[in-house]
Amino acid sequence: MDAYALRRVYLEFFQERGHAVIGGASLIPEHDPSVLFTTAGMHPLVPFLLGEPHPAGRRLTNYQKCVRTDDILEVGDRVHLTFFEMLGNWSLGDYWKDEAIRWSYEFLTERLGFDAERLHVTCFAGDADAPRDDEAAMVWRDLGIPEARITFVPKKDNWWGPVGALGPCGPDTEMFYDMQPDGPIGETPAANQERFWEVWNDVFMEFDKQPDGSYIPLRQRNVDTGMGLERTLAALTGASSVFDTELFAPIIERAQSLARAADPYALRVVADHTRAATFILAEGISPGNLDQPYVARRLIRRAVRYGREMGIRGHFLGELAEVVVQIMGDAYPELMEHRDHIVSALHEEETRFQRTLDRGEREFIKAVTQARAADQNELPGAMVFRLYDTYGYPPELTEEMARREGLSADMEGYRRAFAEHQERSRRGAAARFKGGLVERSPQTTRLHTATYLLQAALRRVLGDHVEQRGSNITVERLRFDFTHPTRVTPEELQAVEALVNEQIARDLPVTWREMTLEEAREAGAIGLFEGRYGEVVRVYAVGDFSLEVCGGPHVEHTGALGRFRIIKEEGIGAGLRRIRATLEDTEESSG
Ligand code: ALA
Repeated sequence: MDAYALRRVYLEFFQERGHAVIGGASLIPEHDPSVLFTTAGMHPLVPFLLGEPHPAGRRLTNYQKCVRTDDILEVGDRVHLTFFEMLGNWSLGDYWKDEAIRWSYEFLTERLGFDAERLHVTCFAGDADAPRDDEAAMVWRDLGIPEARITFVPKKDNWWGPVGALGPCGPDTEMFYDMQPDGPIGETPAANQERFWEVWNDVFMEFDKQPDGSYIPLRQRNVDTGMGLERTLAALTGASSVFDTELFAPIIERAQSLARAADPYALRVVADHTRAATFILAEGISPGNLDQPYVARRLIRRAVRYGREMGIRGHFLGELAEVVVQIMGDAYPELMEHRDHIVSALHEEETRFQRTLDRGEREFIKAVTQARAADQNELPGAMVFRLYDTYGYPPELTEEMARREGLSADMEGYRRAFAEHQERSRRGAAARFKGGLVERSPQTTRLHTATYLLQAALRRVLGDHVEQRGSNITVERLRFDFTHPTRVTPEELQAVEALVNEQIARDLPVTWREMTLEEAREAGAIGLFEGRYGEVVRVYAVGDFSLEVCGGPHVEHTGALGRFRIIKEEGIGAGLRRIRATLEDTEESSG
């Protein structure tokens, strides 16, 4: 079986069980800037997990491209990746643990032919927030999994979500495949990740995490599952790692042919990072210093660094990206569409990085000289971190370079500096993105509808070139990023504000209808048109004023909004503007 067939049999299996196949979403989360990337198949479904009806029904399935950067330093082992695909099936208030687990088992053992004897599972051990998941364990026992292969583990391992700070989450049961069936008896998945590969996770989402950290029951009980495509494919084809599957082998072969001194670990990092960067660039992103552009930059620079370490000279990432497009283009047509941008963005970043590398090399030599002069035989951790963070030097590489100079490197200090940095950016992100649509108070719902009116008004006043690039909502204000080449003049802002307030005064009804993507486009709806041909989406209309593909929620009448006021307009990049606005209570809206 190849990757293409695996995606297909998965969707078919769940289609046969009443699931509608929905399109995967963009890698950049829409309306949820609390995280940089789509990290799981459930991510775009958050509004529906919270209770909005999904136009395709209560049983859904798809494959979703995901990026997770927390594991970046683990890339190079057998299973970790920064970009990966997740196969998923969902129950939105429909079936529950029994069906979900039975289907997972049936798909693995019957449809894919996994050996049931090599299957291990974990269940939630229980704590103050939720009881031990005996219900899930019962189903596994009933399916014939012996007690020895069922382990109960705590929240740290067997609880999933929320994505970001708030929202749907719950206990899960994870499925592992024993890749060394002749290994010591009695080992469990928690103790040996190399041996037991996690292939699938069934999450039982019945909680909604609150800003105060408490968990309240969700309106509906959902099942959210995620199967790692690359791992499953590797396990299925007897490959010894995800890199030995058809998804990576051609990239690795190409890199190897360019290298003077190929190294298996470096080849894996180069292959993973090039693939992830290719997909991020395919979203129209270019490398930069913040947010997603920064992640693209880091991935590219790490790949270049490892490439150089293997003696690859000159620009090479474009060539590898072409291989990625060949492998993945059938499942992800956006790669073909953005091929030129991908290749040229890689080329430019490689050029820019050469200069940085030269500077980094000088820094390194300086640090070595200083250490020697001070009679120290260790490179400080802060220096290792600086070389990593500013110049893209992988820490293990700095350590190796230091060793060649007869020095050690303070890796413990590096890890501390890294953790401090992460904590700072996490706090920064949390402060910047407090809220998001997950926090759904009546006020954020009102602001969501206002965002929608604002976009329509901007298009009328400034022109149809205006497109949404980001949206963030807190209980106090909305923030809307959009494309526009010049500053918006005070007169234009006034006109936009007046136009929005006029629609509020008209007390227009907000209604929605389901239609296919093509019908929505033809009807002139704006919004994101990611998805598959024929897919049914929800289209919201505000009276005759606007039409948008959107998951909601919205107010029922615009009169509930109060008074709309623009607080600030500013530029945030070439051709990108940002507006902050708020709603002030009036008698009608607060009543
Ligand atoms: N959302 C779950 C996961 O990512 C399925 O593991």
